[in-house]
Amino acid sequence: MTAATHDWLNNLPKIELHLHLEGSLEPELMFTLAKRNNVELPFESVDQIRKAYAFSNLQDFLDIYYQGANVLLVERDFYDLTWAYLQKCHEQNVIHVEPFFDPQTHTDRGISFEVVITGISRALRDAESKLGITSRLIMCFLRHLSEEAALDTLTQAQPFIKHFIAVGLDSSEKGHPPEKFSRVFEKARELGLLTVAHAGEEGPAKYIWTAINDLKVSRVDHGVNALDDPALMQHLVDTQIPLTVCPLSNTRLCVFDDMSQHTVLTMLDQGVCVTVNSDDPAYFGGYMTENFVALAESLNMTEEQAIQLVRNSISASFVDDARKNELLALLLND
Ligand code: ADE
Ligand code: ZN
Repeated sequence: MTAATHDWLNNLPKIELHLHLEGSLEPELMFTLAKRNNVELPFESVDQIRKAYAFSNLQDFLDIYYQGANVLLVERDFYDLTWAYLQKCHEQNVIHVEPFFDPQTHTDRGISFEVVITGISRALRDAESKLGITSRLIMCFLRHLSEEAALDTLTQAQPFIKHFIAVGLDSSEKGHPPEKFSRVFEKARELGLLTVAHAGEEGPAKYIWTAINDLKVSRVDHGVNALDDPALMQHLVDTQIPLTVCPLSNTRLCVFDDMSQHTVLTMLDQGVCVTVNSDDPAYFGGYMTENFVALAESLNMTEEQAIQLVRNSISASFVDDARKNELLALLLND
């Protein structure tokens, strides 16, 4: 790739709709926080950590990802984590973000919900005032845990409901279908929250159907396995329910053997509202720009396709029409 193409992709205004804040914890910050908080890490160096990031599947990754989060203890840690991600967004001209956080990863270690959400929210507020990056936060439930645990988390979250716009569903997909969480998602909708869910990353197309029909999601996270089901593909085209696709994540977790096999542009050309996102950038080798670069290098993505992917993200975002129009103007006047 030429430097000019790389710069064009980096400067293109971008929107991120699928990002786990805990997955943006870079090894350097992990070490800093471990030292500051007197937490022992099972690694000697940043290099050793990076070498451990060779995954064969989602579970391989999740085991290391939950371990990494152990260095996050106090409000300042959650602020620093979120702020580091937002600075990266600023460098890559990411102008609006809708990140996920996993409260149960922290509350199960005895950290209060309030500590987690106040640290994250303070950084998101600072990003808007200092960097001009707008955001909407999404609280995810861990699907390998029970629905009762998710209901308990929703209760803990209620005093802080103004800080987030939607609930989501993440962690180990296979064997944990969306409908396991029908009641808690119904309760979240009654509270006025929107819903999203990871589905069809490693799990079958059937899980995408139940995310849509049982959980009433506004967006499907990943959703790449929709291609196995022609009726579902037609439904996605007809309804324009967006998919938040994460190319580097999919190759690092062996959902696709190689980026040249990735189907995101095929789906785009078929009229599905696909978007490009980084998922867990500290673990998968790149943020938004690197994901766009990978598509340009391995799939010959055109400028028109890149612009359409960002247009899809704007239309899929949870901001009001006024902000959508501002984002569109920033994209088209670029
Ligand atoms: N949590 C963080 N990243 C995830 C992913 N790609 N799939 C499911 N859960 C996750
Ligand atoms: Zn994800």
